Amino acid sequence: MFTDKLSKLMNNLLRRQPSYITVTPTTPALAETALPDKLPTHVAIIMDGNGRWATERNLPRSAGHAAGTEALREIIRTSSDWGIKHLTIYAFSTENWARSKEEVNALMSLLLKYFSSEIDELDEKKVRILILGDVEGLPEAQRDAVKKAMERTKNNTGLRLNIALNYGGRAELIRAAKSLAEKVKDGTMTAEQIDQDTFAAELYTAGQPDVDLLIRTSGEYRLSNFLPWQTTYAEMVFDKIYWPDFDRNAYLKALREYASRSRRFGGVTDPKVNGAK
Ligand code: FPP
Repeated sequence: MFTDKLSKLMNNLLRRQPSYITVTPTTPALAETALPDKLPTHVAIIMDGNGRWATERNLPRSAGHAAGTEALREIIRTSSDWGIKHLTIYAFSTENWARSKEEVNALMSLLLKYFSSEIDELDEKKVRILILGDVEGLPEAQRDAVKKAMERTKNNTGLRLNIALNYGGRAELIRAAKSLAEKVKDGTMTAEQIDQDTFAAELYTAGQPDVDLLIRTSGEYRLSNFLPWQTTYAEMVFDKIYWPDFDRNAYLKALREYASRSRRFGGVTDPKVNGAK
């Protein structure tokens, strides 16, 4: 009897919310009104934790990647709706080939499915797709699908969606160095002309600004060979939740964290806030 009463009392107490707790809005409309003033121009995301998300649910790792694709769809839509100009996502690294054949196949077929099911909506939203990485090293069907997606969206003027696929940061730097060396060798440029701008122009992200905000989920604190050049001055936000659970509210939280940071780029002021050069 006493334990019954006690448990009822405890339940009532737990259900009652103190007035100082503010509940994060869950509807898109509410979330949008709470967008911070200072948004990053370029967001990059390491979508980590799909495997652990699945394992915790006694599901195969491929189910985690499928759930991760759903989260990705929502974050791309949200980025476009919220006016983010550049979004770069880490979909498959050059090191990911070392995973089991089963997992690699699952990821490759998800990619294929993604490009056929999403391309119409992405194109409609004026998203421009670019693959960062060695496209020629992909299986034929995936190679064709991504090439078609890039071609179809190349004149779009909305969100620039960069998908790092068969991508490695060091490989990207070596590729740029080789290309510059070739140009010097054939006389189209001199060694003296190699500077930050001419180097950046050889990267997959040529013509796009550096990353402002890098998000990594799943409580890991590493760059994992992702955009070493472009993230030099990026603000980093790490979230403990697994990628499949990353939703609009988690995104909003990361954007708010970004807005609260003071960026100094090695100097003393924040050019974005102060309009300084
Ligand atoms: C890292 O989690 C995630 C990946 C290696 C793949 C990310 C891919 C997707 C979200 C979907 C496919 C992408 C597109 C564009 C359709 P993990 O597997 O390393 O997780 P773990 O650290 O928990 O094992």
